[in-house]
Amino acid sequence: LLIQQAAQQALARYEGQAGSLLPILHAIQDALGYIPDTAVPTLVEALQLSRAEIHGVIQFYAHFRDQPAAPVVLEVCRAESCQAMGAEHLAQHAREHLGCDFHGSSANGKVTLEPVYCLGLCAQSPAVMIDGEPYARMTPAKLDELLHAKGY
Ligand code: FES
Repeated sequence: LLIQQAAQQALARYEGQAGSLLPILHAIQDALGYIPDTAVPTLVEALQLSRAEIHGVIQFYAHFRDQPAAPVVLEVCRAESCQAMGAEHLAQHAREHLGCDFHGSSANGKVTLEPVYCLGLCAQSPAVMIDGEPYARMTPAKLDELLHAKGY
């Protein structure tokens, strides 16, 4: 019921606006933390789009997730400036440390790992975001400390 409510509220907010799929998906994810599969049929009907089109958009944008996130969300910047400053090494460390890939969660269900594309901290690359808080000049050791402080 909560899912249908969130979908209906998002649809009502952008009713009649062209190209409203993205803001609607954002609104659903803001309300529920993810975009459940069961919300998609409501969108199909209201927006006259196919299931495949809506799923395609959810898959295309790294920001959207179709599973609930763990209590802690770690986003590692994978855009150019961070890449040049060792973000891939950092990403590899995060994958190994958490034992999951991007869009996945650690085995103990505590941390979800997501990619992000520029946090506006390019001058202090590489950057990550933990639960919406940005951290610059990140190193594997600092990352471990921050995750430890979050209970991982
Ligand atoms: Fe990573 Fe801009 S490229 S913060």
